Amino acid sequence: RQLFGVLGAGAAGAVVGAAGGAGVALAATGGGTTDASGAAASVYPYFGAHQAGIVTPAQDRLHFAAFDVADALDREGLIGLLTEWTDAAARLSQGLEVAEGGAVGGSDYSPPTDTGEALGLPASGLTITFGFGPGLFTDESGADRFGLSARRPAMLEPLPRFQGDALVPEMSGGDLCIQACADDPQVAVHAIRNLSRIAFGRASLRWSQLGFGRTSSTSTTQATPRNLFGFKDGTANVKAEETAIVDDHVWVHASDEPAWLAGGSYLVARRIRMIIENWDRVQLGEQEMLVGRSKGEGAPLSGGTEFTEPDFDKTGATDAPLIDADAHVRLAHPTSNGGARMLRRGYNFVDGNDSLGRLDAGLFFLSFQRSPQQFIDVQTSLARDGLNEYLKHVGSAIFAVPGGVAEGEFVGQALFA
Ligand code: HEM
Repeated sequence: RQLFGVLGAGAAGAVVGAAGGAGVALAATGGGTTDASGAAASVYPYFGAHQAGIVTPAQDRLHFAAFDVADALDREGLIGLLTEWTDAAARLSQGLEVAEGGAVGGSDYSPPTDTGEALGLPASGLTITFGFGPGLFTDESGADRFGLSARRPAMLEPLPRFQGDALVPEMSGGDLCIQACADDPQVAVHAIRNLSRIAFGRASLRWSQLGFGRTSSTSTTQATPRNLFGFKDGTANVKAEETAIVDDHVWVHASDEPAWLAGGSYLVARRIRMIIENWDRVQLGEQEMLVGRSKGEGAPLSGGTEFTEPDFDKTGATDAPLIDADAHVRLAHPTSNGGARMLRRGYNFVDGNDSLGRLDAGLFFLSFQRSPQQFIDVQTSLARDGLNEYLKHVGSAIFAVPGGVAEGEFVGQALFA
């Protein structure tokens, strides 16, 4: 049964982009994604050279989930789970129910295959991206339950402790992850809910995060959105259309180690709390100095418009650099960290408030890079970032994201070959 009511079986005509492609046929503005006819419906292929949800134009909503595998799970069980997850993800991303003929009502004696809350909704640009955490290769006791330790990527280690980290274990780590992005929150939540149900008894949710409002552009067809500090975010991001840069900085190559990860990437997730009440008391000029860009236009303080390259050497009347020595964009720029770049794909979050009556708000930072070292280099360079006074990193996780899936395969199959 099809959930994708609008275009029905003819949905193929509306399929845009390739899983590994940019989906540049889309005219995406702000948060919404529209096809050439202006209809708010997009369907991304699940199968392709790379997993969807990386260079796909960032959708507006996120549900991200990290799982711990069950103690009793063995290699066959893990392969079974990944196979079922792949089948379900391929269907869900096309706007279909979890399983073929999966009656929402079920029989009188069995629960429904699909929970049903996305019935009648379009695919809404849903992409589902799977990742493998360090614990899948060697568990805490050093045991190699799945026979994978020899294939563990050397760089797939929990991230080092960075200055100012205030990490909470309950919001960090995980053996497996699923990133579900869509333009409708119900669709993203439905995907994680049903994939969690499929995992029952084999993997359990460790932590999850909802995100609203993308905080980056991953395609030149997208307008730059704003983060909760009110600044444009994503201006200098790596964009899907810059294929040589994506190839160099995002995808793992066959010549990199290990070969099974070719066509994949490393995903870093950081739950960054933003102390927005304090930020809101900071004068506009000071906010701009901390970021290194203007708040309205998003132009570098060295002059020009949003997409003008910053000139870090340019000085003002007092001979001081126009872009401060500790400005975020200076420290995050490739010139400050040995050339490291990354594809950022984060989301805003507001999860109620804390006991002091402050919003539990921030940026759920997600980045994809060819090596974790790229993130480490940039985050290390950000140690003296002036913004840090208003930030607190409370969650951290890293995953190896396998390459794309071919029809008839399961995600990460090469790892088990
Ligand atoms: C750029 C905000 C955390 C890496 C920017 C920009 C803003 C911003 C406003 C300028 C617009 C743009 O080019 O996208 C923030 C906020 C953060 C945060 C509010 C925390 C809540 C991080 C982290 C990293 C990072 C953790 C990586 C470790 C970058 C990079 C750029 C950038 C690489 C582009 C720099 C360039 O080449 O010009 N960020 N950011 N940011 N940020 Fe962040």
